[in-house]
Amino acid sequence: MPAQRNKTEDDITAEVLQRFAETPDPRLRQIMLGLVKHLHAFVKEVELTEAEWFQAIEILTEAGRMCSDKRQEFILFSDTLGVSMVVDLISHRKPDGATESTVFGPFHRLGAPELPAGGNIAHLDKTGTPTLVSGRVLDLDGKPIKGALLDVWQAQSSGLYDSQDTSLNGLHMRGKFRTDAEGRYLVRTVRPVNYPIPSDGPVGRMLRATGRHPWRPAHIHFVVSADGYEPVTTHIFDRTDEYLGSDAVFAVKDSLICDFVLHDAATSEAARACITPPFLTADFDFHLKPAAEHRATVLDAQQRLAALGAAG
Ligand code: BEZ
Ligand code: FE
Repeated sequence: MPAQRNKTEDDITAEVLQRFAETPDPRLRQIMLGLVKHLHAFVKEVELTEAEWFQAIEILTEAGRMCSDKRQEFILFSDTLGVSMVVDLISHRKPDGATESTVFGPFHRLGAPELPAGGNIAHLDKTGTPTLVSGRVLDLDGKPIKGALLDVWQAQSSGLYDSQDTSLNGLHMRGKFRTDAEGRYLVRTVRPVNYPIPSDGPVGRMLRATGRHPWRPAHIHFVVSADGYEPVTTHIFDRTDEYLGSDAVFAVKDSLICDFVLHDAATSEAARACITPPFLTADFDFHLKPAAEHRATVLDAQQRLAALGAAG
């Protein structure tokens, strides 16, 4: 195409698309062409001003400055814009019966201790209500999966993850559990609470400017994996939480909502775990589907985050 003068807005779009049209890798070509097409359409639709364009550059620059081994502001933007959940839904189209996935979130840490069944991940939390979470890991036919690994993490009853709590310097509210021959697992923790996502940066400013709240409904995070099965990254949510319908990161799926049942009298399981009433129990079974041959695994996701410096 000969060089043009007096270009229109659409001429620029066409020229940029043409410049990417010979990208050798077909997937990269598809992504770049789609990105340019939609980005230009967005700018034209809202008639972005120079001042607004510069504000966007400032926001992205500030987001970059906020990223550290403990903070990933770009993932938080992706989460609060719903992009993480769209990617999740595209990437994990499960057959009926498999446990649904949801966002990984920024608070997973590598190196959680492997604990015996009933091990307490909340040993430093003195204010939360003791809670036993139990269930089984099963295949799609309902057969127990022995030796499945559950990597569990949760916010403290203060609403803070260990990495946000300046009074702590080690891991807390994290553990890895293996299923027994019947596929059973048992985790001791405290009742999960709802908490606001970090809002002291550009994501928080976006939420306030748009009249959105930063709250996530109470939940516990799990990555459940087993040889020969596709790992699932998910949460279980407390059915009574007021934010189930308005999660700041759009991560609630009906199948992940669970009853946390209050007990005022002792049970044998609680007594074995040295828990006195009142306490809660929650029962949730995970169903894994067989591994596809060349699928990215959750380990890939964890390694990517570690490479970003988020393993802290
Ligand atoms: C979380 O549940 O840990 C989380 C997920 C997405 C954004 C912020 C927090
Ligand atoms: Fe969380």
